[in-house]
Amino acid sequence: MQSFKNSEALLEREVKVSPLAAQTYSKSYRYFCRGAAPSYMDHGEGCYIYDVDGNKFIDFMCALGPITVGYNDPEVNAAVISQVNKFASGSLQSELEVELAEKLCEIIPCAEMVRFVKNGGDATTAAVRLARAYTGRDIVLMSGYHGMHDWSIGASQNNKGVPKAVCDLTINFTYNDLEDLENKLKANDVAAVILEPIQSNGPKDGYLNGVKELAHKYGAILIFDEVVSGFHYALGGAQEVFGVSPDLVAFGKGMANGYPISAVAGRRDLLEQIEQGVFVSTTFGGDSIAMAASLATLEILSTPGFYDHINKIGTMMRDGIQERIDKYDLNDILSVSGMPAHCGIAFEGHGSLSYLDIQSVYSQTMIQNGILVFAIYFLNSHHTEAEAKAYLDATDKAFALIRQAVDKDSVDDILIGGKVDPVFKRNIK
Ligand SMILES: Cc1ncc(COP(=O)(O)O)c(C=O)c1O
Repeated sequence: MQSFKNSEALLEREVKVSPLAAQTYSKSYRYFCRGAAPSYMDHGEGCYIYDVDGNKFIDFMCALGPITVGYNDPEVNAAVISQVNKFASGSLQSELEVELAEKLCEIIPCAEMVRFVKNGGDATTAAVRLARAYTGRDIVLMSGYHGMHDWSIGASQNNKGVPKAVCDLTINFTYNDLEDLENKLKANDVAAVILEPIQSNGPKDGYLNGVKELAHKYGAILIFDEVVSGFHYALGGAQEVFGVSPDLVAFGKGMANGYPISAVAGRRDLLEQIEQGVFVSTTFGGDSIAMAASLATLEILSTPGFYDHINKIGTMMRDGIQERIDKYDLNDILSVSGMPAHCGIAFEGHGSLSYLDIQSVYSQTMIQNGILVFAIYFLNSHHTEAEAKAYLDATDKAFALIRQAVDKDSVDDILIGGKVDPVFKRNIK
């Protein structure tokens, strides 16, 4: 029987002193069924995590993407510990910075130079600033999520606190729709086209090439935001998978197996602007611990067959989700989309049930069956067929309960904890 007593006690303390009691929205208790889910982690091992109440879960969140080679990896640990004994951030650069920059220029197709920062949003922001400086234009066209900075969050529905003048400089375009992009390029003097290259079920044939041609036709810089796609599908990112190189790219999340580091990379003439006064500089950009972790992580990611394994497990899971949606006749309520390595389930409301009621049944049941996941799963190299099967068995139980809830038009007999209640909700039911 699971107990979340210690998690709940910590949560009660933290909500008083830290908003949402988590530093990342999607890790907050509000993304889970409070009282029936863990909030605090004690330790991790491979693809398993242990919470502060001693419950064990197979972790399909992977810290929202950073954990690519598994928790507590001995090689990453050894590299980190060796550097801890020397220095973390120093008065001069570490040799590791040279090695890591050279390595990234070797493995990322578009990278002629690279600049290190800390979060994914720092890297996308640096890329946009470089594009604006190069083109002398202000407008940005974006597709996807690119972090918390004003230029991007200002163009989302979560733009409270961003000046209108800033919001007006960024315009969303529709993924996989070249006509929409061209119309927006024609109508504006665009500095940069930035997109997550893999969204939904991935780019249509020729889409990414089309985006590149259009961006260049209208004098804009093409930026791939590979903060999520990077290191999850192939060593060189989506640009390697689809054979399309952008002018600039942002990487983050999966670079260092959980240690904080991100990078903007790309064309030399664009990056060299940093030497001519385009400001990209942070105190911790040269943090050598994260660089040691990143070098060790990249070594493991380079192992032959690494991505074949992830794709095989992911395919088993994605196909298995769809089979179960069909089995319980839930196609009007649930849909699965994504590439095998990183897939998500979308929930729709039905009758008097909202999409969050349905998602709550899913979330609670997965946790009860030892699976830590939110609507989207991430994989690391330790997930095997056994963990994928456990995930699918739990999914089967969750979908059976969703069927029951929909048929009764009620979740009252099912939910024992609170409901999933994210700060940012979709507008639709
Ligand atoms: C595609 C994408 N870009 C950028 C970011 C921002 O990264 P960070 O939260 O590390 O600033 C995220 C974060 O989820 C992301 O998913």
